[in-house]
Amino acid sequence: MAKLAIHGGEPVRKEPFPLYRDIGEEELRELKEVIKSKQLFRYGGTKVKKFEEEFAKFYGVRHAVACTSGTAAIHIALGALELDAGSEVITSPITDMGTIIPILAQNCIPIFADLDPYTYTLDPSDIEKRISEKTKAIIAVHLFGYPCDMDPIMEIAEKHGLYVIEDCCQAYLAEYKGKRVGTIGHINAFSLQMSKHMTTGDGGITVTNDDELGRKARLFMDKGWVRGVPSFARTYIMFGFNYRMNELTGAVALAQLKKLPKVVEKRRVLGEKLTKLLEDLENSEYLYLPKSTKERKHSFWLYPMRVNTSKLKVTNIDFAKALSAEGIPASAGYIGKPLYTVPYLMEKRVYGKTHCPFECPYYGKKIEYKPGLCPTTEKILAEIITIPINEHFTDKDVEDIAEAVRKVTEYYAKQQP
Ligand SMILES: Cc1ncc(COP(=O)(O)O)c(C=O)c1O
Repeated sequence: MAKLAIHGGEPVRKEPFPLYRDIGEEELRELKEVIKSKQLFRYGGTKVKKFEEEFAKFYGVRHAVACTSGTAAIHIALGALELDAGSEVITSPITDMGTIIPILAQNCIPIFADLDPYTYTLDPSDIEKRISEKTKAIIAVHLFGYPCDMDPIMEIAEKHGLYVIEDCCQAYLAEYKGKRVGTIGHINAFSLQMSKHMTTGDGGITVTNDDELGRKARLFMDKGWVRGVPSFARTYIMFGFNYRMNELTGAVALAQLKKLPKVVEKRRVLGEKLTKLLEDLENSEYLYLPKSTKERKHSFWLYPMRVNTSKLKVTNIDFAKALSAEGIPASAGYIGKPLYTVPYLMEKRVYGKTHCPFECPYYGKKIEYKPGLCPTTEKILAEIITIPINEHFTDKDVEDIAEAVRKVTEYYAKQQP
């Protein structure tokens, strides 16, 4: 058996992987037009407006509101719902903190539901168990680019009168039963942060087919300011923030949108190829791999896999370390711990010493964030590793990843008594 690189053996891979993004002439052309126009502000310029129109057309939705980040896009979606302080919002314990911050910022209470052990998305039956008279919305996170099981989530929402926000930050062009994610929930959000399928460095966009939510989303993005109505004085009609995208960002976003289909298609082909190359290790139950099905199409923001620690004598941290030594940039866990164990949440430290919104009279319930709340989530995080996948990878890059994963897996499989 080949000696692992972590034990002094030859690494499978010595060259770095092509992890750069496609940013070049197309972005420059759009940017040049903005600079020449001397107008960097979206109201007065053309690029952000055009980006919103083109994104809405591309996704086949009625409204798209561009903003400064994915966190802002989720905040705008939630703000548009105008929930009462103390409302509960059910979401995933494995996601970026940008899913949770808007809930707290609206003085609402994040309620974490457990996940499916193979797709890492919300388990609909567990959502139903966590619903109370305070529940008003669900934020469904399409983690790593894999779609949540949206039919039962929408059915639960309908039955209990809840809104659904899709967090599509990692899931551009992922599909559920032939529909793109971001077109199923009531109001949905995307991120344009640097690592995402399309990027402006930072940025975001909120989409909806609901005219009233679209109107409120636009107001919330812009301090509640009514624009375009002739008046001698400013009119603010709703609480909101300044989450306006500027023209420079809008210019880059326009160019990036054109590249999006190819980026996703390439990642999809590479991701499915990697799964195929490792299929026998899944059949032996050493690893659990991501894969598209007829109904749920992956878009591979990252390549996640679970190491079956009851069959392989290794932790996910040591597995990731061994893979990294083989020259494969792997991480253990994505986030290391479920978000309900983030210290400031467990200590209810959001607004100074007040313990708001958790002890706000409008909530009137007791909430405790502590380990053990979502057992399947905790098992996932103890076993998952993630490997970057990028549209510039070649077949050889994927083959190297597969070879290294195989080498490490086979080594730890042999360590069994
Ligand atoms: C699932 C998810 N939700 C929310 C966010 C927040 O997006 P941003 O970093 O653009 O604020 C991200 C991005 O990091 C994300 O991956």
